[in-house]
Amino acid sequence: MTRVLITSALPYINGIKHLGNLAGSMLPADVFARFKRAAGAEVLYICATDEHGTPAELAAAEAGQDVRTYCDEQHQLQHDISRAFGLSFDWFGRSSNPPNHRLTQHFAEVLESKGLIEERTDKMVYSVDDRRFLPDRYVEGTCPHCGFEKARGDQCDNCGNLLDPVDLINPYSKISGSRNIEVRDTNHLYLQQTKLESRIRAWVDANSANWPHLTRSIAYKHLDEGLIDRGITRDLAWGIPVMKDGLPRPGFEDKVFYVWFDAPIEYIGATVEWAESEGTDWERWWRTDKGAGDTEYVQFMGKDNVAFHTVSFPATILGSEEPWKTVDRLKAFNWLNWYGGKFSTSEKRGVFMDTALELLPPDLWRWYLTANAPEGSDTAFTWEQFQSAVNKDLADVLGNFVNRIAKFAESKFEGVVPAGGEPGELELKLYADIDAGIADLTAQLEAIEVRKAAQALRALWVLGNEYLQVAAPWTAIKTDPARAAVVVRTALNLAALYARLSAPFIPFAAEKIAEAFNQGWPLAWPSDGAAVELDRLSVGQTIRAPEVLFRKIEDEQVAEWGERFGGAG
Ligand code: 2FM
Ligand code: ZN
Repeated sequence: MTRVLITSALPYINGIKHLGNLAGSMLPADVFARFKRAAGAEVLYICATDEHGTPAELAAAEAGQDVRTYCDEQHQLQHDISRAFGLSFDWFGRSSNPPNHRLTQHFAEVLESKGLIEERTDKMVYSVDDRRFLPDRYVEGTCPHCGFEKARGDQCDNCGNLLDPVDLINPYSKISGSRNIEVRDTNHLYLQQTKLESRIRAWVDANSANWPHLTRSIAYKHLDEGLIDRGITRDLAWGIPVMKDGLPRPGFEDKVFYVWFDAPIEYIGATVEWAESEGTDWERWWRTDKGAGDTEYVQFMGKDNVAFHTVSFPATILGSEEPWKTVDRLKAFNWLNWYGGKFSTSEKRGVFMDTALELLPPDLWRWYLTANAPEGSDTAFTWEQFQSAVNKDLADVLGNFVNRIAKFAESKFEGVVPAGGEPGELELKLYADIDAGIADLTAQLEAIEVRKAAQALRALWVLGNEYLQVAAPWTAIKTDPARAAVVVRTALNLAALYARLSAPFIPFAAEKIAEAFNQGWPLAWPSDGAAVELDRLSVGQTIRAPEVLFRKIEDEQVAEWGERFGGAG
């Protein structure tokens, strides 16, 4: 059996995520995980909250809570809301949990033993009024690359360049707003990426053939610009302590590891958490000397995370010279925008995962966000497009087909799969079309082409409506009951097949169809030809019309939500 390890970028702990976060990492990872499981692979889908660093400290301070309590609450919230969206993580961990502490400290020690870590006296931004150093996001200012005036200390949100806080022009403290800023000396650990540059490039050269264009281009952009040694500690209280020989490292008592050093290590840490809870082995997923060489490792993330996963995290892993599993396929996404602008957690612009579920069931969002995945370029969410995707694709095409044939079987065939008749020309054509459609859908899913996969699925749904239109069982039943039975039997099988094919995208509706048709759950991916797949339901078994699968979105709702969430304005 093939084994697939899937991770989606770890969402920051600070606050419920918006639809853009969902569309660009967790949701596509979930679709892929569900597909691979259905197709018979042994899948481990890992995610976690990214709990360290300044975002967590800042948000906790804003909420008036200590960081630990804040993280406990927010983790539970994100966990519950992810489940409500149907995200089928095998484990949703926490980067603040003990396994990540152990692993992060382990990597730092090993890297130091390989001569790749250096203690340096560093110039850091110090806020005189706040009486503390200001790492990363505690300081903002003008980006030296593009002139954006609200660039964060670690990365510019406008041009995407990674920054060093001391490079900001006109810096100010995020804590107090003070511009009374000095640059002072402080000691930090540096990972000497310059020494690793050729190893990382060789690794990218050897592994990137299957990466999508977006991923490759970002990786090579960073390599071509030349790597710099990277500070992996910060002047913060909350985070993973810096140790030496089992004791706090002298001079580092008030420092912790940089969040971007420990966060990717949590992919492994969360696997350890999972294994501890299951009483199973984690090493076969992560250690190539323990069998992980047979695993395919696929990562999902937004484009702002790619540099960290193609350069920084590989530097940690390769530098250790230990047999860790590295990523095989790295699927990156562009931005899902909110109309013309960006979704923004800090400015609360756009729809967030909790609100989304208060408005409508998860499958509606899941469908829209996969059918419009920001793959080739940035994509804009609009309520009008959302309404059209839901009403046309889900309600008119899939929902209508399933409902129509199930109702007809209920009224004319006593709610059972009818016997009689033999498949004719129309059915043979349908088999050929369905075979081609499934082959396309399967290939797009294997290739993680999310939009194309959604299109292929929709094309399969359309075939059902076209078939019913031409085969017209409501006419046939008047003159040729055996013919009507063939059509109804075929169409009922098609509806059941749609549940299996649609489950990765819209699992809740798929489960409703499966239930109404007395199918087990979870459903396996079809592996036989359509002639077999469309003859799976037992003749005489009962079926019923499922409760309403998709309610249409009314124009009034669109108008109201446009107003409420700022829409085009
Ligand atoms: O950009 C983000 O949302 C980060 N929290 C992603 C971390 S991914 C992984 F490396 F932990
Ligand atoms: Zn910039």
